Amino acid sequence: MQQHNETISPHGGKLINRIVEGPARDEALREAAGLERLTLNAREMSDVEMIATGVYSPLEGFMGRESFESVVEKSHLPSSFGRAPGGGAWPWTIPVTIAVKRENAARFAPGRKVTLMDPAKSVIVGTFAIDDQFEPDKKREAERVYRTTDAAHPGVAAVEQMGPTYLGGKITVLNRPTAAAFTAYRRDPADTRREFALRGWKRVVAFQTRNPVHRAHEYIQKCALEIVDGLLLHPLVGETKSDDIPADVRMRCYEVLLENYYPKDRVLLRVLPAAMRYAGPREAIFHAIMRKNYGCTHFIVGRDHAGVGNYYGTYDAQKIFDEFDPAAMGITPLFFDHTFFCSSCGAMASTKTCPHPAESRVALSGTRVREMLGRGEIPPVQFTRPEVAEVLIASYRKG
Ligand code: ADX
Repeated sequence: MQQHNETISPHGGKLINRIVEGPARDEALREAAGLERLTLNAREMSDVEMIATGVYSPLEGFMGRESFESVVEKSHLPSSFGRAPGGGAWPWTIPVTIAVKRENAARFAPGRKVTLMDPAKSVIVGTFAIDDQFEPDKKREAERVYRTTDAAHPGVAAVEQMGPTYLGGKITVLNRPTAAAFTAYRRDPADTRREFALRGWKRVVAFQTRNPVHRAHEYIQKCALEIVDGLLLHPLVGETKSDDIPADVRMRCYEVLLENYYPKDRVLLRVLPAAMRYAGPREAIFHAIMRKNYGCTHFIVGRDHAGVGNYYGTYDAQKIFDEFDPAAMGITPLFFDHTFFCSSCGAMASTKTCPHPAESRVALSGTRVREMLGRGEIPPVQFTRPEVAEVLIASYRKG
């Protein structure tokens, strides 16, 4: 595929593509039909897609022990991935893993190639060339990656629910896993890189979100857009916690917001089909690396990025960037303090820019907003755009 004037090279130096097409795919499908089968869950399906389309570049598969331990202990890939600009290892903070039950370990021994099936067991997603099998110390994984071993943490719970035997090895994709959802907004890293180049955007800021965009989000996006060429509004639409607002509702919120309040030639709405880990600081690094692979040069990190409950300090997800060589990261983080509307300033502001006391600030908790929307009440315009509130109220009414 032709490369357009790239502004930022992918993590690891090259965009990974593990999708097999054409006659090779027909041949691989024939082979896959006769292999041992491994059924994927929703998160594994998403990870397979992320690997295959280069969102997780330079990963080509699920992590074996060496990569897993390097990531858990050192927040970097092992030296087998080569050296990053600056001479060190490539940053990577979240293990990308797949597991089976102990009693099935023999069926998935290293050296075997198996077929990856979708959760309904009806579609051959691809193949997995297993080259490693190990039992991780999950308590250690939780402590290091999530900074807690509390099973109430959704990321820790997901680790605990996995089987005890992790499998490593390269994958290939023969049928795209989740390509049916949000097709209008689903673009792979190679596609977004082309879209940015066609628009002449050299400096692009990405905004990660798992929520409807409220005024605070809009403010930091537009502050960032003031200093770059374009904004990639990049909501995560993979698995989230059950009390997060569903992705289809959020997509309608983004559409009405963009239609009414954003310049069309400066903003792209595209989806990130990744699952949420809720790993706070470590996930902020992971989110930034993924957006680098999509071709973004800048990444917004606000208050409690990718946080859940009270596990992380408000700005821990910003502080963690100090632990990484900026040359190895490549993408530049843009940090924002807690933002809100201040009635004394008469404007959106942040704890960095506003000198007024708490009483001047319109700050609503998520719980309070949910209560208002549940009653059909539109929250103050300083908190959320009415068009967005209407979409949310309609979804609450539907139940
Ligand atoms: S997240 O899990 O995807 O981080 P959310 O969608 O709420 O959750 O946040 C998206 C981005 O906006 C994150 O970078 C977050 O830190 C930032 N953010 C959310 N609310 C605020 C706020 N009031 N002030 C500053 N930053 C915020």
